Amino acid sequence: MCGIVGYIGKKQAKDYLLDGLESMEYRGYDSTGIAVLDKKSINLAKVVGRVEHLRKAERENPSKGHAGIGHTRWATHGGVTKNNSHPHHDQNKEFYVIHNGIIENYQEIKAYLTKQGVKFYGDTDTEVIPNLISELYKEHGDVQKAFKAALKSLRGAYAIVMITSHDPGNIYAAKFSSPLAIGVAEDGMYIGSDAMPILPHTKQVVFLEDNEGAVVSCNSYELFHIKTDKSIKRPTELLEIEHEAAEKGDYPDFMIKEIHEVPQTIRATMLGRLRADEGIVKLGGLEEVRDQLDYIDRIVVLACGTSYYAGLVGEYLLEEISNIPVEVQQASEFRYRQEPLSRSTAVLVVSQSGETADTIAALKKIEGSGILTLGIVNAPGSTLARMTDAGVYCHAGPEKAVASTKAFVAQVTVFLLIALHLSKNYRNFDKLIAELDSLPQKIEEVFAQEEKIRKLAEKYSTANDFLYIGRRYAYPLALEGALKLKEISYIHAEGFAGGEMKHGPLALIDKNFPTFAFALSNDLDEKLVSNMQEIHARDGKIVVVVDEGKSEAAKLSEDTIVIPKVSEQLQPLIGVVPAFLFAYYAAKRLGRDIDKPRNLAKSVTVE
Ligand code: G6P
Repeated sequence: MCGIVGYIGKKQAKDYLLDGLESMEYRGYDSTGIAVLDKKSINLAKVVGRVEHLRKAERENPSKGHAGIGHTRWATHGGVTKNNSHPHHDQNKEFYVIHNGIIENYQEIKAYLTKQGVKFYGDTDTEVIPNLISELYKEHGDVQKAFKAALKSLRGAYAIVMITSHDPGNIYAAKFSSPLAIGVAEDGMYIGSDAMPILPHTKQVVFLEDNEGAVVSCNSYELFHIKTDKSIKRPTELLEIEHEAAEKGDYPDFMIKEIHEVPQTIRATMLGRLRADEGIVKLGGLEEVRDQLDYIDRIVVLACGTSYYAGLVGEYLLEEISNIPVEVQQASEFRYRQEPLSRSTAVLVVSQSGETADTIAALKKIEGSGILTLGIVNAPGSTLARMTDAGVYCHAGPEKAVASTKAFVAQVTVFLLIALHLSKNYRNFDKLIAELDSLPQKIEEVFAQEEKIRKLAEKYSTANDFLYIGRRYAYPLALEGALKLKEISYIHAEGFAGGEMKHGPLALIDKNFPTFAFALSNDLDEKLVSNMQEIHARDGKIVVVVDEGKSEAAKLSEDTIVIPKVSEQLQPLIGVVPAFLFAYYAAKRLGRDIDKPRNLAKSVTVE
């Protein structure tokens, strides 16, 4: 979703702004723009579309200046138009602002400003901010005072960065709820809504906390509290993250590249943690809270989207292997529930980006309650990684395609490692550890069938609807498989537990409503086969993933994908790969914009 960059320093601002915006492109956006301050004039460039279009505009008409701000917008208030894209300015074109989040009381502010004679050119909530600052500037005659006064009137979530011709030596920033970081380097100050754009320039970063603002010059920054105006001293922290550039290489899309990275992702996630030869799982990130973990008798997992489905797999794993009761909730629901939590409950958030607004809000809800908070996060240094008491990083590397694939696999792998780490006397402990060690190799074998899966996906790409079914560990797989197909191909797809077929979904089945079934070996084999028989009897076509070519399930199916056999607890890690490939090739056949599907964003930073 929306991304923010800002710069003030010795270099031409536009170079960082454009590179920074590009590094955040994967988050999803529909328009982009920059404003660059040159002495007393500000040059504004905005486009509907990609950063490459903005680059082109900049090549033709370059913005000059050493301070500037840039934004990628994902429309919330107001349509996708150049007018509505950021940066936004006041009616006199003196104050330019970029903003992530939502100003909840913008209608109220807009009504007040309109009464003062302010004319608005667009439909966004953001446009009220520069106009409000401008009005307050008339009153105070001082930019800092006007900025601080305006912040006190805003309600909602925001990360704001502003430049103004009235104070060319400073950039102004503020945050509540949406993340904002300032990177401090020899050649200037680099601002970003996450560390990604900053990292190629510096690892010395200061993160703004909620209700904090900053006045940033070429070589210094001053922090203040928005409510009290008190100045805050906070040194930079050294981000121990390597800048990992993700390139498509020879792949046509990031998504297919990331699917192919699944085996190496599992290796990276397990590296140094799974000690197969010693028969242990070591998780440094949980060491500090080891004693507290001994007293935990319930885990509540909170997440959104694909991470939520990884949580559902985690539920099965933790309950079976560690014998701890687990409940998984969508963070967007949990944040508004009146749910009593005991002190012996741990809350575990799961997030690829570490910046999902609902998951952050859910975690904030229990802040200060003394409840142990844990994280399974992929993006190092992200908000959720910093907010939790302890956690285990996924080490999946940057994931660029909006639809999550390798991060899902890494999250499930981490769940498995945590479950084994917390287990006491689990009977299959040694077997699973040995099997996990060789799992990446087995997943590589699935790619030998990629061509077959491509043809199947193309054959079924004309379907309007798809049902995904599985039981036990394969049930969350059915949910994730269906999500993947609808996200990128726009084919309507739903996931169900096989046992639920008779309670509704069966009514949909006919020859035009195909089913994707996960029929991987377990002691419920016969039950899933009965579910498939019910579909077969109603002329429903079935594509099945099996781990034994000649199984009963294969006989009932029109098309079969055979994958290597593994223990049931590992099935989600390997079984999901054919579903990823199936969704990818169906979407490819339909000519979809696979890495940036319509209406979706990689990092959902607003509610
Ligand atoms: C968006 C993304 C999904 C992701 C979900 C949760 O919807 O498109 O791929 O699963 O957000 O994101 P998180 O970063 O918290 O895992």
